[in-house]
Amino acid sequence: MQTNKITSLIQPFAQQFDLSEGVMCDPRERIVRRASDMRGYYVDGDALEALIAARQDPPHYETFECAVPEEPGQVKYCISKLYPGTVGDECFMTKGHYHAVLATGEVYLCLRGQGLMMMKTAAGRWAAEPLSRNRMVYVPPHWAHRSINTGNEPLISFCVYPAEAGHNYGDIATEGFPRRVFIRQGKEVIE
Ligand SMILES: [Fe+2]
Repeated sequence: MQTNKITSLIQPFAQQFDLSEGVMCDPRERIVRRASDMRGYYVDGDALEALIAARQDPPHYETFECAVPEEPGQVKYCISKLYPGTVGDECFMTKGHYHAVLATGEVYLCLRGQGLMMMKTAAGRWAAEPLSRNRMVYVPPHWAHRSINTGNEPLISFCVYPAEAGHNYGDIATEGFPRRVFIRQGKEVIE
């Protein structure tokens, strides 16, 4: 029998969720990104500063990370919870990232809310897929991805990806995405 030296033999386990609230119980890590963490990401920086000042730097999105080792063969999963709102008229969004190991994909199963998964390649191709309850988006390897909340309630997704994928936030912070999403006169606008 072949053994893989870099994939640990760990104990099977189970975990509790509250899927309507978008909460993973006992996560390894719960990351809260606040409005102030989003400086530089929105077109209207003044509107973001006004939001930070008016609402005491509110949580913008949260991710719940599982405790699976980041080794080939393991499967990681997370919960992403993005609050609703706009900065100026631009919809709340996550920072977005490439995977550090580019040749790894990801599955996003939307549990609640309305939004878009915005994706791009390093060569500038882009795609946007609607996210809503009961809808899954497949993010292929090589595509950076960001979720965008176009609705009035939290946008909650359950995500699954190869454990070795890692996150690369730096490149997308520099490049940005080629399209942004706004709500104008009650309508979603991608431009
Ligand atoms: Fe990802």
